[in-house]
Amino acid sequence: MKVFSDKIEIQSYISEEKSNGSTFGFVPTMGALHEGHLSLVKEALSNNNYAVVSIFVNPTQFDNEEDLEKYPRTLERDVALLKTVSDSILVYAPSVDDIYEGNTKSEQFSFDGLEFEMEGRFREGHFDGVGTIVKRLFEIVTPNNAYFGEKDFQQLAIVKKLVEKYHIPVTIVGCKIHREANGLAMSSRNERLKPEYKIAAPFIYKTLKEAKEKFGTKSAKEVTEWVERQFAKHKLLELEYFIIADIETLKPVKRKSKSKTYRAFVAAYADDIRLIDNLALN
Ligand code: PAF
Repeated sequence: MKVFSDKIEIQSYISEEKSNGSTFGFVPTMGALHEGHLSLVKEALSNNNYAVVSIFVNPTQFDNEEDLEKYPRTLERDVALLKTVSDSILVYAPSVDDIYEGNTKSEQFSFDGLEFEMEGRFREGHFDGVGTIVKRLFEIVTPNNAYFGEKDFQQLAIVKKLVEKYHIPVTIVGCKIHREANGLAMSSRNERLKPEYKIAAPFIYKTLKEAKEKFGTKSAKEVTEWVERQFAKHKLLELEYFIIADIETLKPVKRKSKSKTYRAFVAAYADDIRLIDNLALN
């Protein structure tokens, strides 16, 4: 397994291997790798000769300095973990300068309105930061396929839109949410949960599952109000939003239609840790 920190070096390695016919599956990450990331890497390896894993805590997608500072950075452990998976992995762990070359700023994007919903309403500038880093990483890695988890469903939709708008020649593959045995969606942020919050957090998935059941017979408004009441009664978790949205537009559903596909989305705080999750409803 090779570890690169310099974009020129990884680019020349990839272009050499591509000229020999190798294909590359890309898994962009911010590190603190867990089983969810490893499942994306395994998926990439099963369809490509190499998996490239980037490990980079991207400053431009954080709207909160403290969140950026506290984001776990565990490069040595991450590399050791990837070594246990396969030798055909290239790790790209750049410095901020290798990516931003002294100008740590986001580009401005339009994602046809997808960026204004949910996370976009609560995390200003977040998707400009994500668009900026993903576009740059695609330019450096030039992958054949790129793998993104459905936990960040809005991010996945936005990356698909980015690729379409900029005609980037990569296939985006969305992968199922990986969960702990208790249902909690795997996330690098889970590492920071204090014990009592770790016990409380599976409530998010449990509530999503109950909401799905209710959505069979009740309106989106009724289900939303029910979920809000459940969180209001909870002593440790604070709901930021619960939204039932059309998966194409990500806009909240006003009236259910049989021809549309819906998903429920949650963001909630467990102490100062922001957790998100979502579930397909139909
Ligand atoms: O999902 C993430 O970990 C990040 O948003 C990504 C895609 C690696 C971009 O920094």
